[in-house]
Amino acid sequence: MQVSPLTSIHVETQPLRFPPDFLWGAATSAYQIEGAWNEDGKGLSIWDTFTHHPGNIWQNQNGDIACDHYHRWREDIELMKTMGLKAYRFSIAWSRILPEGTGRVNSKGLDFYQRLVDGLLQAGIEPFVTLYHWDLPQALQDRGGWPNRETAEAFVDYADQVSRAIGDRVKYWITFNEPFIVAWLGHLVGEHAPGHKSQAEMLHTAHHLLVAHGWSVPVIRRNSTQANVGITLDSVPMTPASSRFADRYAAWLQDGYRNRWLLDPLVARGYPLDVIGFFNYPMDFVRSGDLEIIATPIDFIGLNYYSRQIIRARNSAKEDYTPIPLPPAPDAEVTEMGWEVHPQGLFDWLTRLTYEYRFPEIYITENGAAYPDSLAENVIEDTLRIHYLREHFVQAWRAIQAGVPLKGYFVWSLMDNFEWAHGYAKRFGLIYVDFESQKRIMKRSAHWYRQVIASGSVV
Ligand code: NOJ
Repeated sequence: MQVSPLTSIHVETQPLRFPPDFLWGAATSAYQIEGAWNEDGKGLSIWDTFTHHPGNIWQNQNGDIACDHYHRWREDIELMKTMGLKAYRFSIAWSRILPEGTGRVNSKGLDFYQRLVDGLLQAGIEPFVTLYHWDLPQALQDRGGWPNRETAEAFVDYADQVSRAIGDRVKYWITFNEPFIVAWLGHLVGEHAPGHKSQAEMLHTAHHLLVAHGWSVPVIRRNSTQANVGITLDSVPMTPASSRFADRYAAWLQDGYRNRWLLDPLVARGYPLDVIGFFNYPMDFVRSGDLEIIATPIDFIGLNYYSRQIIRARNSAKEDYTPIPLPPAPDAEVTEMGWEVHPQGLFDWLTRLTYEYRFPEIYITENGAAYPDSLAENVIEDTLRIHYLREHFVQAWRAIQAGVPLKGYFVWSLMDNFEWAHGYAKRFGLIYVDFESQKRIMKRSAHWYRQVIASGSVV
């Protein structure tokens, strides 16, 4: 390995070898790539509604067509094959399966995912299914959405339908993708669907997502006898802005708010008391037995890692320790999202999940970066993305040496796609997508990744 031009984090002379059965993959989600928003009996989702409302998304873009993966999935599997992917993580659009959220099943929706799963298996690619990547059926939103506990019950029926249909072939299941983001950006900040701004909604949502998760684990296991079931959390290490007590305390609180709030109940520690105090909101949404349900043992934890946050206390002189996230330092390396490149955080997080939380297995279910890729004569020289990925792969390798049971790594994303509130402005793909022609071109990083996978090592 060479010294990187931007940061000389790691200098190795030998290739870093990963275990032979390590699952190298790439990830996507339904709303971000499928398009076909109203085809074959699909019902509306909250993201259809939210993006069709002017002012919510950059340039009022939407996922109506996206990467047109619904029609081009065969071609996309071919590209995965060319890259030599061992696994592919995708999500299922609930409103394709149950257009009204509950009740009537749309067999055409199930057929699509049956074909996709069969196609992947034929190509020798292990399917990793995410059941919920943010596109709640609008019909359920109309009945109160996630703040309404009945949505958690509806999720269990949906998980039951899907796992019955493809549970004989799918071995890896992720119940929810980034529940914190659903609760926070969707219900407090309002930047994501359904665009609400309420602390009460945020807390109720987070709890109901966790309960829905716990309830569905045994259902999936019953229908899918070889199932490995987990949940994916967004994971953000918090660095205090200084070594002063106030900043360290604020960083700990922010860690509680964003990370421990979900991690602790999943491992039977209940909700963290310091954060309950911080929210100062009645915990009356927790019913007897809920904490046991949430702590149903899982087979793995999925980790989405992009960056860290630097935190300072709002006003230590007045003993106001409210956490304030700071922008990255002026000399920090950042991606096009403005997120600091901080590979060490991945190592820190993997070791924390192993030695503090004791999850039996870990998958990195997302890691990657947006950069302003440009197409020149059919070539995309995304050297910054290669640099980003290499530095994070090195940290994953280090974690394995430190005893972390890391089993696989999914790059976000397989291809450029609809980046939520940012529309198509941010390109995270290993594959470039020309959204006008829907032409796909493997970026330099995709060729580089193919070599990593083929050799099982990072140089
Ligand atoms: C996490 C989300 O799961 C995914 O949908 C999103 O595109 C990436 N982060 C990048 O922001």
